[in-house]
Amino acid sequence: MSMTLCQNIEQLRAQIDGWRDDKEIIAFVPTMGNLHDGHLSLVEIAQQKASRVVVSIYVNPLQFSPDEDFESYPRTLDADLEQLNKLGVDLVFMPDDSMMYPQGQQRSTFVDVPILSQIIEGEFRPGFFKGVATAVLKLFNMVQPDIAVFGEKDFQQLLIIRRLVEDLNLPIKIIGAETRRESDGLAMSSRNSYLNVSERAKSRLLSETLLVFRHQIEQGADIKQAEKSCVETLENHGFIVDYVTLRETSSLNEVSDDEITKNKELIILAAAKIGKTRLIDNLKFTI
Ligand code: PAF
Repeated sequence: MSMTLCQNIEQLRAQIDGWRDDKEIIAFVPTMGNLHDGHLSLVEIAQQKASRVVVSIYVNPLQFSPDEDFESYPRTLDADLEQLNKLGVDLVFMPDDSMMYPQGQQRSTFVDVPILSQIIEGEFRPGFFKGVATAVLKLFNMVQPDIAVFGEKDFQQLLIIRRLVEDLNLPIKIIGAETRRESDGLAMSSRNSYLNVSERAKSRLLSETLLVFRHQIEQGADIKQAEKSCVETLENHGFIVDYVTLRETSSLNEVSDDEITKNKELIILAAAKIGKTRLIDNLKFTI
């Protein structure tokens, strides 16, 4: 079967309706394109869980602030389609701005997940999660999947999508997929392509720092001290650090030293700039 390319909702719905009539299970992987092995692993998980897989490619302007990289975000449609075709994806949906934001970005209805959208990444990128949640909800309504797969690299995004699905009673099962890493530990990301050779060499320090932080917490270190020393290590190597923070995994609430008890599920989240490239990463662990 060849892969269907679809740029309008009527065609998408006709195909999805046909699959539903045939009792197929539909899994969905939303992307902004520029696909790397991390995305491809999401597709593979989707294929294991469902009989049909839909991937969307849409660089969503609503999740970029005016000073971010919307214009320069890497767009590699031909290579993306080739990879998805090779993997045997059933349909690629490529909406345009008029489909996503018919009234324009400022006048369209939006969805905002409170609190979770404002903390950590949301503090540094106000409006980012509103843009993500709105686009994802719209894509869910267009594709109407049974299952959707998101990467754990964007852990806060994953939690926000889970909350959105729960709060709005969407009949969609959300699956989180483990972060894929380069051989030196750097989490795969489309933005890694912005790194020059020396930045790329240094970038591994971000995931290494998370491991050091985990080790310190496991050894009973004071959280604020551990956080401070990780920030200093990164800054000493030229990173501009937005945050390195230890949180409770399911709520992303802050944890205090006396809350660190056995079996506690924790996550370290970090965001830092190296040169002009902003990298994020996280590390989950149980104490
Ligand atoms: O993670 C991404 O690539 C984007 O935030 C998503 C989920 C496709 C929404 O635009």
